[in-house]
Amino acid sequence: MKQFLFAICILVASFATAQSPKVNSSMALSTFDTIKLLAPDTLGGKPLMQTIAHRKSDRLFDSRNISLKHLSEILWVTNGINRANGKRTVPSAMGLYPLQTYAVLPNGIYFYNPQKHQLEPVVKGDFRSIAGRQTYVDTAPLNILLIAKGKTATDNFSAAMLDSGYCGQNVYLYCASEGLKCVVRAGAKEAELLKAMNLEANYKFILAVTVGY
Ligand SMILES: Cc1cc2nc3c(=O)[nH]c(=O)nc-3n(C[C@H](O)[C@H](O)[C@H](O)COP(=O)(O)O)c2cc1C
Repeated sequence: MKQFLFAICILVASFATAQSPKVNSSMALSTFDTIKLLAPDTLGGKPLMQTIAHRKSDRLFDSRNISLKHLSEILWVTNGINRANGKRTVPSAMGLYPLQTYAVLPNGIYFYNPQKHQLEPVVKGDFRSIAGRQTYVDTAPLNILLIAKGKTATDNFSAAMLDSGYCGQNVYLYCASEGLKCVVRAGAKEAELLKAMNLEANYKFILAVTVGY
């Protein structure tokens, strides 16, 4: 009887493991498709003061892919929607939200759609070497790009720059809370990057954040 109950327990446990999404394991990235992101765990994380005590920049990254949970929550803290009125996790001067968020993953560049909380494919291929000017960018699993769009990119450049600081700081705090590494960067090969992404002349690269383990 004991052995029978033990066997049932093992069976139930293995079934539960198979059914639960492997949110903390690295993403396979075998296909270049829309990535449906997970809802953020808003009850997770370390207390704020502990988090701030751990905030720092890192420049040595493991090449292992980011997990879906981390990718999902990083994009949400960067520029996601946190209220029913559609406003964001970050403030924006005059509520203009000039910044678009892109994720440079090892298999391509994706656009972050905050309304659908999903990553949409832009261009396939490994573009990490043009996402920055320092060698750690080439192998890090995630580079976030903040790109200002349209009139705000040219006429309201300083507002876009100020907004980007809040996005970057949210990523820093999230990484400190989750034990991830990150560094914000003002440097990228902007002309090559915008060309590769097929973005017109009135787009402007503002800031990047390299993230990983
Ligand atoms: C606007 C801005 C741009 C930055 N650009 C880069 C960069 O291009 N490359 C880099 O390695 N670090 C960059 N950093 C990170 C700083 O070098 C870093 O924050 C500083 O040395 C202080 O270290 P800490 O963040 O660990 O406190 C940037 C930081 C800011 C705020």
